[in-house]
Amino acid sequence: MTTSCPSIKTAAHDGVLTIEIARPEKKNALTAAMYSAMAAALHQATQDAAVRAVLLCGQPGIFTSGNDIEDFMSRPPAQGSQALDSPVFGFMRALLDCDKPVVAAVTGAAIGIGTTLLLHCDFVYVSDEARLAMPFVSLGLVPEFASSLLVPQLMGPRRAAERLLLGDPMTPEQAVECGLANAVLPSMEVLPHARRVAQRFNGMPPSAVRQAKLLMRRHSREAVLETIRTEGEIFSARLKSPEAQEAFSAFMQKRRPDFSRF
Ligand code: COA
Repeated sequence: MTTSCPSIKTAAHDGVLTIEIARPEKKNALTAAMYSAMAAALHQATQDAAVRAVLLCGQPGIFTSGNDIEDFMSRPPAQGSQALDSPVFGFMRALLDCDKPVVAAVTGAAIGIGTTLLLHCDFVYVSDEARLAMPFVSLGLVPEFASSLLVPQLMGPRRAAERLLLGDPMTPEQAVECGLANAVLPSMEVLPHARRVAQRFNGMPPSAVRQAKLLMRRHSREAVLETIRTEGEIFSARLKSPEAQEAFSAFMQKRRPDFSRF
C-alpha cells in the first residue's frame, strides 16, 4: 500500500502498522512530502484501535540517509518559530505523540534524523551492517530532535561529544552498549525479529500498554519538547549559513567541504 507519497509505503497486518521508507535510489533521504506521509501514518496508528504497534523500517542495506540535502538547499523549513510548522516538525511531533509502541528495524545506515528518530522509538533492532551517525556539525548544522538533550543523557557528555561534535559514527554494538538499540542481528533477521516484537502487542491489553508508554515518557516530555523547539529555531537559521551552504554544495558536488575561509 502507498500513501499520498510513493516513497512512504504503509501496510496494516496482524495489528501492526508498518511504515516503510522506500526511496532506495537516494538512500532513503527524507523529503518534506515523506515527513508529512509518515506523520499521517503515525496519526492513523494512534487513532485506529486495530493498530496495536508501529513498525518503522527502511530498505535492505539502508534505513535512511537523513534529510534530503537537496531539499535543505532548495526548500528549507521557515526560520524562527514558524520552522515548527514545517513537515519535519510535524513528523517529530507525531512520533512523540504516538501512544502505541514503535519498533524500528535498522537494516543499514541511519544518518542524521535517521539516528535521532531512534531516540524516540520504544524498541530498536540494528543489523550487523548498520552505521549510525549524527554529522550535523560537519554539515554546518546543530543537533535536532532533542538529541542535544537525550544523547548526553544516554551516553554521558564525553561520548556524546564524539557523536555530536565530531560526528563519529557508531557501530551497531556501540548503539546497543549505550542503550540506543536493543540488539544487533544478522541483516536478514532484523525485520522479521522487529515484526515479531511488534506483533506481541496484539495479544496484550492495549490501554495498559498505552498508559505505561505515556508514564515512561511523562517526566522527560516537556524537556524534550522545549529542546526540540530551541534546536529547531537555531537549526533552521543555520540552514542558510555560509558554513551549511558550503557543506551542502560539497555533498552535491561530491567533494570535500572547505571551511578554511570561515
Ligand atoms: N540527501 C540527498 N541525496 C542523498 C542523500 C541525502 N541525505 N544521501 C544520499 N543521497 C544520494 C546521493 O547524492 C546519490 O545520488 P546520485 O546517485 O544522484 O549521485 C545517491 O543518493 C546514492 O548515494 P551515495 O552517497 O552514492 O551512496 P553510498 O552508498 O556511497 O553512501 C551514505 C550512502 C548514506 C553513507 C551517503 O549517501 C551519505 O553519507 N549521505 C549523506 C548523509 C547525510 O549527511 N545526512 C545528514 C542529513 S542531516
